Amino acid sequence: MEIYLDTANLNEIREAASWGILSGVTTNPTLIAREKGADFKSIIQEIASLVEGPISAETTSLDAEGMIREGREFAEWHPNVVIKVPSTTEGLKAVHGLAQHDIYCNVTLCFNPVQALLAARAGAFLISPFIGRIDDTGIDGMNLIREISAVYEQADIDTRILAASIRHPRHIVESALAGADIATCPFSVLQQAMKHPLTDIGIERFLADWKSRQ
Ligand code: E4P
Repeated sequence: MEIYLDTANLNEIREAASWGILSGVTTNPTLIAREKGADFKSIIQEIASLVEGPISAETTSLDAEGMIREGREFAEWHPNVVIKVPSTTEGLKAVHGLAQHDIYCNVTLCFNPVQALLAARAGAFLISPFIGRIDDTGIDGMNLIREISAVYEQADIDTRILAASIRHPRHIVESALAGADIATCPFSVLQQAMKHPLTDIGIERFLADWKSRQ
């Protein structure tokens, strides 16, 4: 299970990169918009200089022609840029079209296993099922990862499953057990994951015992 950071915030990326745990970064238009005033291209290039691994940059066109145009432009920014397109029929066309130029795609906003199967058939490098947003509707989002994983295994597909819309540390573990290859996580979830009261109590006790020996 690889860990990607789901953010466009350079301070968060710098900090998580310093932990030595990052295999990539995903961004989306909402995350880019949060970085007020920053230029999209500069953010993506800066991220690519901080993290070695795929950096997802999302298109905003609704038609395949526009997605392909944007994707070809973003791919010029850095060799590690992966183009994010939505799980729509236009998105499939864009994946197929960008593959002709050897450009990798992350098919995002995936909410059912057939979207995932068709994305893979079109040539997607990554598929992004949105776990948290499914949970929000009262349905178990993790089941989608299980189904995609089973379908991909049955069909011998090597598109990588990227668990997205991760809301808490347990989602990371469950995604791995359900067959995801990668979890893309908000920085706060990674911080939360490394916090345990028994770790803190243990450190305190060790330090107290160490001091009492002098
Ligand atoms: C993934 O690539 C998306 O950017 C992200 O995981 C969306 O998560 P959200 O549902 O928390 O917005």
